[in-house]
Amino acid sequence: MTQSPRQISIPRGTHDILGPQAPLWEKLEASARRVLTYYGYSEIRTPIYEDVALFKRSLGDTSDVVNKQLLELKSSTEDEGLALRPEGTAAVVRSYIENNNDKKEPLSKLFYVGPMFRGERPQKGRLRQFHQIGVEAIGPQAASPLLDAEVLALAMHLLKECGVQTPKLLLNTLGSVEDKQHVSVFLRDAFNQRRDLLCEDCRQRFERNVFRVLDCKKPPCKAVVAEVLGNQGLPLSAESTAYFDKVKASLTDLNIPFTIAPHLVRGLDYYTHTVFEITSEGLGSQDAVGAGGRYSGLLHQLGADPKTEFSAIGFAVGVERILLASGQTEGIVKGLDAYMVVMDHVFSARAFNLIQQLRLAGISADMSYNGASMKSQLSRANKLSARFALILGEDEMKSEKIAVKDMTASTQEIIDQKDLVNYLTTRLK
Ligand code: HAM
Repeated sequence: MTQSPRQISIPRGTHDILGPQAPLWEKLEASARRVLTYYGYSEIRTPIYEDVALFKRSLGDTSDVVNKQLLELKSSTEDEGLALRPEGTAAVVRSYIENNNDKKEPLSKLFYVGPMFRGERPQKGRLRQFHQIGVEAIGPQAASPLLDAEVLALAMHLLKECGVQTPKLLLNTLGSVEDKQHVSVFLRDAFNQRRDLLCEDCRQRFERNVFRVLDCKKPPCKAVVAEVLGNQGLPLSAESTAYFDKVKASLTDLNIPFTIAPHLVRGLDYYTHTVFEITSEGLGSQDAVGAGGRYSGLLHQLGADPKTEFSAIGFAVGVERILLASGQTEGIVKGLDAYMVVMDHVFSARAFNLIQQLRLAGISADMSYNGASMKSQLSRANKLSARFALILGEDEMKSEKIAVKDMTASTQEIIDQKDLVNYLTTRLK
């Protein structure tokens, strides 16, 4: 006996988006796109894989995303290593530089929608292929606290429009590139004196990127951080503090509530100045529905013209987490306008011609092609939530008419086949 071939399953940490889920995604993306245009953002589509060096240089060699989660591709055609994108910022900056955007406009406001890939241990809200809606505002004129406030206002607006009722904004500042260097020396010194109190992970983090210690959730490390920083933020220059004060004042002016999170540092290396996370209840341990911040040094790090001063700020929200947070699990059933029911299979050619006329007129229509019984054709019309069943029997064939059954009102009319398009167009308005 021959063995049936092994059934192939979906890869771990990925999902099919099925049936009524797809229209739900479509609606969510349409809402997001609408809000993004209110703020003057236009879409950018970059490849889903890039030179692995792009991610190493931008996200940082020591970040978990690069260290543990990059999904690298084996390619026989490329000399360089390639990796599936774990996030969108690096590629947008790569494209910005490569296409000389700064010569075309003082500020580029770009958004993207699409899948990202991280080799994480899957759990609720944490996937290996997930989807982000992200924005990046980049340019020589991007260094304004008003732009920070705008990006934060946009993030909150977008999340609410996508169904997240009570997003909570957590805010911090890491200061300028120079501040980060000073703070790094300060923290290293302070933690070095308390090294034995730190957890094993933090002792390693301490060597590779001291900022990560601030993020540790373990009580002994939290105690050390509290002792070192107290309730204060990081020790920053007066200029950086003043910048952050202006961001906060603008948010207050816009009535956007926020909570200062002095230990929020984020897991990617490129951040400077304003950093933020937006959380939502009901997401469990993966409660960030979106996150982002300013990244002043990244453009030069990736090869932008050293004579020009650049700044940038952006964020990304996770579509799967938005759906979890907003409790939208049901999906949306998109009904068909009309389903053709033939009383005898020999009428199929005529029926087929009629439904094609409907489709060309912008009316969604379908039929069965395999000689199914009347009963099963009608139940299919129900299953597809068809608004009308179009019934073609012997009498209708002879008189060139068709019976139109309104499936919701359960009423029926007989009309001329040649009037079908006009009739349905009017009824569907
Ligand atoms: P991130 O915090 O790594 O930032 O990701 C942003 C959002 O993507 C998260 O808040 C979460 O909603 C979603 N997300 C991340 N990883 C996963 C996962 N494994 N499964 C499901 N959802 C996930 C960034 O990616 C930055 N590029 C954001 C940014 C843009 N910063 C500046 N510009």
